[in-house]
Amino acid sequence: MYLFGGSGHCKVIIDIIKNNNLYEITSIIDDNPILDKIFGIDVVRRIKFNDDDTLFIAIGDNKIRKKISSKHSNVKYPILIHSNAIMGINVSIAHGTVIMAGAIVNPDTRIGKQCIINTGAIIEHDNLIDDFVHISPNAALAGNVNVGEGTQIGIGACVIQGVKIGKWCTIGAGSVILRDVPDYAVVVGNPGRIIKYNQKNE
Ligand SMILES: CC(C)(COP(=O)(O)OP(=O)(O)OC[C@H]1O[C@@H](n2cnc3c(N)ncnc32)[C@H](O)[C@@H]1OP(=O)(O)O)[C@@H](O)C(=O)NCCC(=O)NCCS
Repeated sequence: MYLFGGSGHCKVIIDIIKNNNLYEITSIIDDNPILDKIFGIDVVRRIKFNDDDTLFIAIGDNKIRKKISSKHSNVKYPILIHSNAIMGINVSIAHGTVIMAGAIVNPDTRIGKQCIINTGAIIEHDNLIDDFVHISPNAALAGNVNVGEGTQIGIGACVIQGVKIGKWCTIGAGSVILRDVPDYAVVVGNPGRIIKYNQKNE
């Protein structure tokens, strides 16, 4: 397997792969010229992938994961689930998504491709999480929440039941979301208020 991206997020991905003895990591691809190894694994600048190669995009930025996965659509993207994550009945997860240590995903939730469900995040029953979403550490989504493509829910944020959050939104750290959030909105505080809009990127 190859990993794309050699940041701190990549270290956590390596930890999950090693913790579960999931794959042999061949090398890490990163542009940083001074980075030559991470945990003893070689960092290379670029590589030409074959169709049967397995790749995991270890990059926290949702837009960049989308860009890289559409550029390299021929390879296989696995799903990574830490052995200490709790997965409910009838949870579906698409390729390229990681579920980190201590995360809980409750029944009948659907999670799209290339998402990050970070350390200790709680995703309650019947959530719909679209592609390229990042649920940051310790964030909590109550039941029947929808999260649109590319949105980041910040560390420690809470979303009450039934709320619909649009695409490419940013929910600030520790925010409390009580109402639906429109596409591209940046929301902070308790109760959450829109402070600006992210740039459209599609
Ligand atoms: C929401 C966020 C993206 C805004 O970042 P930004 O665009 O750089 O905005 P600024 O820092 O300029 O803040 C703008 C205003 O919002 C306030 N604000 C920013 N984040 C806030 C938050 N999480 N809660 C409450 N207020 C917040 C600032 O105090 C500032 O208020 P002011 O204008 O009265 O001074 C960022 O603060 C944040 O919370 N990011 C989430 C990070 C995260 O969860 N990382 C996890 C990685 S795994």
